[in-house]
Parts: sequence; C-alpha cells; structure tokens
Amino acid sequence: MEETRISDSKVEKLEEENEEAQAEIQIWKYIFGFSILGTVKCAIELGIADAIENHHQGLMTLSELASAVGCTDPSYLFRIMRLLVHQKFFKERSTIGCTTGYANTPLSRRLLRRGENNMADFILLENSPPMLAPFQCLSNHVRGTSDKSIFEEANGENLWKFTEANPDQSKLFSDAMSNDARVLIPKVIKGCPEVFDGITSLVDVGGGDGTTIGLLVKAFPWINGINFDLPHVAFVAPECDGVTHVGGDMFEYVPKADAIIFKWILHDWNDEDCIKILKKCKEAIPKDKGKVIILDAVIGQPKDDKFEGLKLMLDMIMMAHTIKGKERTLSEWDSILMEAGFSHYVINSIPAVHSVIVAFP
Ligand SMILES: C[S@@+](CC[C@H](N)C(=O)[O-])C[C@H]1O[C@@H](n2cnc3c(N)ncnc32)[C@H](O)[C@@H]1O
Repeated sequence: MEETRISDSKVEKLEEENEEAQAEIQIWKYIFGFSILGTVKCAIELGIADAIENHHQGLMTLSELASAVGCTDPSYLFRIMRLLVHQKFFKERSTIGCTTGYANTPLSRRLLRRGENNMADFILLENSPPMLAPFQCLSNHVRGTSDKSIFEEANGENLWKFTEANPDQSKLFSDAMSNDARVLIPKVIKGCPEVFDGITSLVDVGGGDGTTIGLLVKAFPWINGINFDLPHVAFVAPECDGVTHVGGDMFEYVPKADAIIFKWILHDWNDEDCIKILKKCKEAIPKDKGKVIILDAVIGQPKDDKFEGLKLMLDMIMMAHTIKGKERTLSEWDSILMEAGFSHYVINSIPAVHSVIVAFP
C-alpha cells in the first residue's frame, strides 16, 4: 500500500515536470506566433506558392524562386522558406542538379491566389490592420469601459460602414468570403442536396460577391438565384449566369422567393436583430413550402466535433469585428428561431465550421 502511494506521487511529479517543460515551449509559441502569420502573409504577397505551381516541374531552387518573385537578396527568401518548410507549408526536394528545391504541399496550395481551395484572401483579410486593430482594445470592451463596438473603437466606424467607405477593404472582405464559399458550398451540395429539393427561386441574403448563390445555381440549374447585399457590395459583384444581384438593406426588405439562404450572416448580429431579420425572411417565403437555410456554426454540435476549437476562435472574431454578433449553441439557435415564429427546424452536420440549419415557417 505504502509503495503504491510513493509510486503514485512519483508519477504525479513526473507529470508536473512534463507539463512545466511543455508550458515553457508553448508560451514561446504564443510570444512569437504572430511571426508565422506575418511570414505566411508575406509569402502570399510575394506569390511564392504561385511561382512554384507555375514552374514546369513544380520544384524551384532558391535562386529560381528569388528571380521569379523578384527578390534581389535571396538570403531573406532563404530564411522565409526555412521557416515555412519547418511549418510544413512547403517541402524540400532534391533537384536534378542535386541542389535543394522547394515544392508545394496541400497547405501551401491554399496560399495560391487562384485555385480550388485557395484561402489567400481570407488570410490577407484577417491580417489586415483594420481587422487586427480591434484585438488591441478587446479588454476595454470586455470590462465594459466603452459603449462603442470594438471595431468602431478601433477603426472609427462599424465594420459595414468602414467597408462601404473603403472599397479596397470591401473587395478584400468579399474575396475572403468567396474563398470560404468555394470550399463550403460543395460540401453542402454533397452533404445535404435534398435541402434544395422543390426550390425554384432562392435569395442569398448578405451574399457578398455572389459566389455562394452562383455555385448553388450551377449545381441546381432550375433555381433562379438572387444575390442580395448592401448596394456598395451588390453593385460591384461580378456577373454570374442564373444570378441577379440586388442591392438593399435586409432590415428593411428581403426579396420574395421559395427559399432564403444565409451564410455567415446571423452570427454577425445580436439575438434581437436576428429575430428582426428572420421575421422579414418569414414574410418573404411561402407558408406551405418555404424554408430558410442558415449556414452558420452550432457550438457544441455535433459532439466532439473536430471543428469545435475553430468555432470558438470564430466567436472571438465575431466579438472583435461585429456589434454584438456571436456563435450560437443549439439552445440559442432554438430560441431565436422560435421567437421569429418558425414552427420547426432541422440541423444537418457537414465537415465544416458551419452546420446547415433549415427552418420552416
Ligand atoms: C460575413 S459577410 C458574409 C458574406 C457571404 N454570405 C459569405 O459568407 O460568403 C456578411 C455580409 O452581410 C452583408 N450585410 C451587412 N449588413 C447588411 C444589410 N443590412 N443588408 C444586407 N446585407 C448586409 C455584408 O455586406 C457582407 O457581405
């Protein structure tokens, strides 16, 4: 009995030492972590992944890469590539001349400016000064010392007014959302195609540049698509077959259709505003066969979801960037949907941060 107790305490001590050793490394990762994001942003701006992808062998030496991306001193590029290889963005391979060459990986291909799964604009958006600035005043807001939204405190205007006044930031914002739509919408189409059964007209409310509705209309060509967003967004959206762009304010009016889809809209708003928007949507769809399709996170659902940590990070982004937006749990979704007068809803899980919530009048 005595021996067991001694060995238990030894195990505990070893565990504590191990935790201490890990904490020492972990904390430095937080101290220096921003440098990785800064370097990834630099790699996107230099077009490193694109240069490698466009090379006929997909493998470039340092000097080839330096001349392709226009670096006069390759020693800087060498250090950037050394970190990004260590972070497993790029791979090192031997070239025919037996020098070291750099090749893309699935991760670096997400830094391509064009490409199926590219997330380059999203990285540039989240690392742009106006999106980072609110994180400098998060604690003031949490203490309740300011009555302004954090984004407004940091940038002088709320997110939507700021993007309206800054067309470059507005384009970056729409491009970033489009990155997500290109990855997400095929998963929605594959995971729950039945959601679109019987729909002949569909409005994407807050649809940005129309990528989401464009992909849906392509997959279900009998659907007549409307992309509805604030005028400064809708009026610069690119033309797309089967899609009409309409500018307006969803708090005032939502175009009529068989169904309405929202991707990453309701998480931008507090419960009261969501209920107002949802009530407008309920008026815009038919009572018998209408539906509202919500692509947003459900915190805690499904259980042990590998996307849960990302949902919690996204919730902090909502805290920093929106007036009172938040990610919601199942009971929070239930409460706003019932309050807005929907009779029932179903939640479909897909392998993404978003779930597909379908609400019926
Ligand atoms: C987070 S983005 C989502 C864009 C797109 N649904 C996506 O996820 O790819 C929110 C969108 O809501 C739009 N928006 C904000 N306020 C709006 C309003 N009052 N009426 C219509 N759209 C609005 C913004 O312009 C922006 O395009």
